[in-house]
Amino acid sequence: MKTNTEKFGVTPHQPSLWTRADALKVRADDPTTTQPLVSADFPVLSNDVFIWDTMPLRDLDGNVTSVDGWSVIFTLTADRHPNDPQYLDEDGNYDILRDWNDRHGRAKMYYWFSRTGKNWEFGGRVMAEGVSPTAREWAGTPILLNDRGEVDLYYTAVTPGATIVKVRGRVVTTEHGVSMVGFEKVKPLFEADGNMYQTEAQNAFWGFRDPWPFRDPKDGKLYMLFEGNVAGERGSHKVGEAEIGDVPPGYEDVGNSRFQTACVGIAVARDADGDDWEMLPPLLTAVGVNDQTERPHFVFQDGKYYLFTISHTFTYADGVTGPDGVYGFVADSLFGPYVPLNGSGLVLGNPSSQPFQTYSHYVMPNGLVTSFIDSVPTDETGTQIRVGGTEAPTVGMKIKGQQTFVVAEYDYGYIPPMLDVTLK
Ligand code: FRU
Repeated sequence: MKTNTEKFGVTPHQPSLWTRADALKVRADDPTTTQPLVSADFPVLSNDVFIWDTMPLRDLDGNVTSVDGWSVIFTLTADRHPNDPQYLDEDGNYDILRDWNDRHGRAKMYYWFSRTGKNWEFGGRVMAEGVSPTAREWAGTPILLNDRGEVDLYYTAVTPGATIVKVRGRVVTTEHGVSMVGFEKVKPLFEADGNMYQTEAQNAFWGFRDPWPFRDPKDGKLYMLFEGNVAGERGSHKVGEAEIGDVPPGYEDVGNSRFQTACVGIAVARDADGDDWEMLPPLLTAVGVNDQTERPHFVFQDGKYYLFTISHTFTYADGVTGPDGVYGFVADSLFGPYVPLNGSGLVLGNPSSQPFQTYSHYVMPNGLVTSFIDSVPTDETGTQIRVGGTEAPTVGMKIKGQQTFVVAEYDYGYIPPMLDVTLK
């Protein structure tokens, strides 16, 4: 019998492993892989809404694209509630931290536009209330399909369940701004299967989300990355020699690391439009290392596949750690083998003095890295913080072979287009 991968003319592959030995090489505060300090006097995009995960409009090859000279970003967004009694503390003051921490439950997809690739103007909600089938609209990718302005928005429909979905609409421009029309019919694509990707029934803390479709520069086919966990009942995973890697004496104890089972998933489209998908085995697994490899995405450079994914300190397994930030892996072909960039995988982490300053980094093919501000300390001890919910300063990074280097810092939310499409 043919395996799924053979059926679709895709090379069968073994997932690459991010091992405990790799993670032991993580060095927080290495200046070449640390995001510059974000100052607590940052400007906010909006006083009415929090924004976090930022999804620049792009084409299927990964190029950030403007339309008729307008840059467009999509963001996960939630209202701020400064006057809602539910978010007032005992003294009647707005508890912004609690409001911010609750945002995931009411996340909605919004869009913003700009002539300059920064100073984003508020566009509005992408889908009207009631269009998306679940409570939460979680991260994904807006793809500009053609010069008619058609856009496929891939995203995650969450609670109940977690389904990778897509909705088609159109971007329309005028001299004064940008609007999104359509986005009325959400099409479910796939869910975790329990054989390759963990389901909610196997683990209530499962992750299955963040679609990132792309055209493989080498074989020209349509694929999609997503975040998953390796299938199996919670607690049943084995952290063996392969997952441990080549560790020094005294580092063999894996503790309870079997509970951390992140992976980067991949699916291949059976059709040209990306309406019909087949899940393939994960590209990369982090069993025994980390429980979340979120928002996976590629940069295709120098004939190589640079795979980036965001992760947290709190999702690391016993005995290994690293900062919140973006991690990366490189391979010569789509299905690997992938090796961690900079030895450890760490590409751009928060400084240890401000461990939550930014998150949800997105590496663009021009080497610019966008992220959002989470919270920044406002006193020496770090007990007082200022919540962000806005765009962080963009970081410039150089990718060279198996290494990356921070080389520049730009304005807040600077996401310049790499190409412009004139709409017909
Ligand atoms: C990353 C993330 C995504 C998810 C969204 C939920 O910041 O956790 O993986 O889609 O935020 O708000």
